[in-house]
Amino acid sequence: EKIVVGVDIGGTSIKVGICDSEGSLLHTYEGPTEVEKGSDVVCENIAAYARLIVEQSPFEWDQVEGVGIGIAGFLDIPRGFVHKSVNLFFENVPLKDILEEKLEKKVLVNNDANVAALGEAWAGAGRGISDCVCYTLGTGVGGGVIINGKVVEGYKGMAGELGHMAIVPDLEAIQCGCGNKGCLETVSSATGIIRMAKDAVERGDRTSLTFVEHIMAKDVIDAAKAGDEVAARIVNRAAFYLGKSMATVAVVLNPQRFIIGGGVSKAGEFLFEQIRDVFRKSTPDMAQEGVEIVPAILGNDAGVVGAAGLIIRA
Ligand code: BGC
Ligand code: NA
Ligand code: ZN
Repeated sequence: EKIVVGVDIGGTSIKVGICDSEGSLLHTYEGPTEVEKGSDVVCENIAAYARLIVEQSPFEWDQVEGVGIGIAGFLDIPRGFVHKSVNLFFENVPLKDILEEKLEKKVLVNNDANVAALGEAWAGAGRGISDCVCYTLGTGVGGGVIINGKVVEGYKGMAGELGHMAIVPDLEAIQCGCGNKGCLETVSSATGIIRMAKDAVERGDRTSLTFVEHIMAKDVIDAAKAGDEVAARIVNRAAFYLGKSMATVAVVLNPQRFIIGGGVSKAGEFLFEQIRDVFRKSTPDMAQEGVEIVPAILGNDAGVVGAAGLIIRA
């Protein structure tokens, strides 16, 4: 029996999973990424966790058909080369080559959000639907575009980098990690929400938000739900630009479903209703007819399942 290993590299932890050849997730393991130690250590960790999970399972390394990897950042996808991953401090890392050598297996690398989209399309909220667009709202804003059941990669692998849509008007735009200004990620990621909250507190806005040092996006969302107007404005701004970006995507690709995952999406209907409202008001009837905006359902597993899927589908 053949198995596949899926790897989801996040800023704080690396998740690995074993899937059977149908894509069912059999075992998972999670260990620290240790980004602060540099890309060599991160690569060693990936290899160590991949071998460890197989060792701890009833399977043998010989049964591993390949290792699929999802990683945040701008990639040369066919070469598995990471040009730049701001959140992981990776620059010019030949990830596929390094890991093929360490693991002595076929390794396929793709963008973390593309891979999560693949997981959702395959076994989650996009099941049975051939055209869907996924957003992941976490440290950054990731995107994955599935058309005719396949991830769209584009000319240089940049298709689906939805977090870097320059959507905030210049006068209000702030610098993004990618080097440009006004990216969706600067307002709709957890990082963006936290930044807006800190700004509000520093400005002296009347708000229940106070613990600026350790504030999390969830605190801002909870305060907004509890009626804090400043927090509500911040969350609404995050939702507004998401809805606007979906209106744009709707007339470019006309997907049947938008799937939103990542930590911020746990805000639930409170957030989704605001996004839908903007989308409804900003999209031509024909491009929104029958179109749904729904939460992701695989949660933390979407990345590993989709990463394993890279190998299974290859
Ligand atoms: C990166 C994407 C990634 C997303 C979510 C963005 O900043 O550019 O490649 O998918 O964060 O991790
Ligand atoms: Na992507
Ligand atoms: Zn950007």
